[in-house]
Amino acid sequence: MSENQKQKQKNELPQPLRRKFLNFLVNTGIVGLFGSVLYPIIRFLEPPKTTDVSPSSVQAGKVSDLKPNSGRIIRYGREPVILLKTKDGDVRAFSAICTHLGCIVQFRADFEHIWCACHNGHYDLNGINIAGPPPRPLPVFKVNIKDDIIYVSKDKFS
Ligand code: FES
Repeated sequence: MSENQKQKQKNELPQPLRRKFLNFLVNTGIVGLFGSVLYPIIRFLEPPKTTDVSPSSVQAGKVSDLKPNSGRIIRYGREPVILLKTKDGDVRAFSAICTHLGCIVQFRADFEHIWCACHNGHYDLNGINIAGPPPRPLPVFKVNIKDDIIYVSKDKFS
């Protein structure tokens, strides 16, 4: 073996090791990069685990503070609820989430019923859909009154 060949072989011998090491570094970097980019994206797309925090009953103010033929939105846990008082003084509560596309409904004293502004949906004082696009009645909430205080709870049968 000539001196030139020995030198050439000497230069070539460590190359596979160096190449393997560089490939290892590059592959590790690519895996790390994908991991650091994909992990937050997957975590973002995955909805967080939540527990139902709906209370069994909420206080919704005093009956005497609610004028006849009026209504207001209250919170039942995370759910908006429309609380209304009819002209006769009857207090009622329904889910305030429109059954059409989920807008929040409101009480319209001029219509004397519940109305959804999004697509002109109408519900009567029993939460029944009477006009417009809403396909179903509003879910009913149970109302109990004790010492002028209104308590709203989920109606187990709706
Ligand atoms: S969301 Fe209420 S009528 Fe469309």
